[in-house]
Amino acid sequence: MSYEVTETIQGEEVEYSNPAKEFYEALGYDGMKDLMDRFYDKVFESEIATFFPQDEEEFEEVKAKNTLFFIQLCGGPKIYDEGIEEKGLNEHMIKIHEDFSVYEKSRLEWLGCMKETLEETNIPQELKDNFWEYVEKFSKLTVNTFPEECRYVSSL
Ligand code: HEM
Repeated sequence: MSYEVTETIQGEEVEYSNPAKEFYEALGYDGMKDLMDRFYDKVFESEIATFFPQDEEEFEEVKAKNTLFFIQLCGGPKIYDEGIEEKGLNEHMIKIHEDFSVYEKSRLEWLGCMKETLEETNIPQELKDNFWEYVEKFSKLTVNTFPEECRYVSSL
C-alpha cells in the first residue's frame, strides 16, 4: 500500500466508509491518543499550522477532541458526542470545517502528516490501509475552497 491520494473534484460525489472498529481496538484509547498527539505535532510544524489555534491550551483541546472523535467514528464508545449517530459524525465534521477555507493544497498537507504518522504506528498494515482509505476519501469533503484558474492572458 502506497498511501495513494486522488484529486478532489469540485461537486463530485465521494463514497467512503468509516474506519473499521479493529483500528480502534488495535490501538485502544491510549494508542489513539498517542497517534493524534504525534499527528498534531506534525500539523503544528506544517504549512497548515496557521489554521489551528496558536494558544497551546486551545491546541491541546483540538487534539483531545480529535482523539474522542476518531474513537467514536471507529465504532468505539460514544465519547465525542453521544447525541450524534456514527453516520452523522461526518456531516457534523463537514460543518465544522466550513469555518475555514480549506484548499486541496491544505488537504494534501493534512494527509501528508497523517501518512507519516501511520507509517510510524506499529499495528497491522491492513488496518492502516483501511484507516487511510477513510481519511483520503472523507478529506475531500472538507475541501471547500476551489481557486479559479488563472485566466490572465497576456495581450502582448
Ligand atoms: C479526514 C479528514 C478530516 C477529519 C476526519 C478531521 C477531523 C477534525 C476534528 C475531529 C476536529 C475537531 C472538531 C471539534 O472541535 O469538535 C477538527 C478540527 C479542525 N480541522 Fe480537521 N479533519 C479533517 C481534515 C482537515 C483538513 C484537510 C484541514 C485543513 C486545514 C483541517 C483543519 C481543521 C481545523 C482548522 C480544525 C479546527 C481547529 C479549531 O477548533 O480551531 N481538517 N478536524
